[in-house]
Amino acid sequence: MDEHKGRLTKDGIRIHEAADFAGMRKAGELAARILDEIAEHVFVGQTTGEIDRIITEKVEQAGAVSATIGYKGYRHASCISVNHVVCHGIPGDKKLKDGDILNIDVTVIVDGWFGDTSRMYTAGQISRKAERLIQVTHDSLMLGIEAAKPGNTFGDIGSAIQTYVERQRMSVVRDFCGHGLGRVFHAPPNVLHYGRPGTGPRLEEGMFFTIEPMVNLGRPETKILADDWTAVTRDKSLSAQFEHSIGITATGCEIFTPSPANLFHPTNPS
Ligand code: MF3
Ligand code: CO
Ligand code: CO
Repeated sequence: MDEHKGRLTKDGIRIHEAADFAGMRKAGELAARILDEIAEHVFVGQTTGEIDRIITEKVEQAGAVSATIGYKGYRHASCISVNHVVCHGIPGDKKLKDGDILNIDVTVIVDGWFGDTSRMYTAGQISRKAERLIQVTHDSLMLGIEAAKPGNTFGDIGSAIQTYVERQRMSVVRDFCGHGLGRVFHAPPNVLHYGRPGTGPRLEEGMFFTIEPMVNLGRPETKILADDWTAVTRDKSLSAQFEHSIGITATGCEIFTPSPANLFHPTNPS
């Protein structure tokens, strides 16, 4: 039996069935719960390696599978991206310092369905600039999600994010994007966090994808470090990211990865 049901659009985007939403809900809930539970383990002096070890343990305890361990040679259950690291930060021995901001990104597989979410955490007292960056990045994701409804296009999502971010004099990273997911980790389309209204494929009920804008205080350019994973801002400016997995419904979208404890963002939880 083909486990990949439903049809593909002309752009190769899978249209899932109504019953598939339940699978995504369960996978998304676990990923979001792990991000809730990890909050108390983020503090000055903690290593990102220890945070990842705890995440690995939680995935195992839930009887789930990490989507990132073994993915293209990646060896960890999370990506932890501190300060000017844009994404794909590798957990390690470095201790968090007072004023650090960090993104923790977790993807789990539950009953074959992928749940992918990330959010920002802080260590000690952060600067006002950092606080604003985190708020703007969070709000840009939520504006993208508001544009995620049947009849709109992927360009409407990107445009909503880009317009808002640039009005705040911050920049949207172009080198990484969101992605379709479901029973696979990364599927069409590339979900760009910039663009023009009305461009790109039209959104249809049953599409599952992530929106995961990365926003920089400085310029948008990135580079990859010698470890072949860690992406950093070229100008060393601070970067932030938030990610939800969503499914398009008849009238809008369902967020598969809301925080069970309402911790997605401290001042604007969802
Ligand atoms: N979770 C990331 C995403 O949002 C992908 C991480 S792949 C890894 O798509 F190998 F770096 F973990
Ligand atoms: Co993702
Ligand atoms: Co992710």
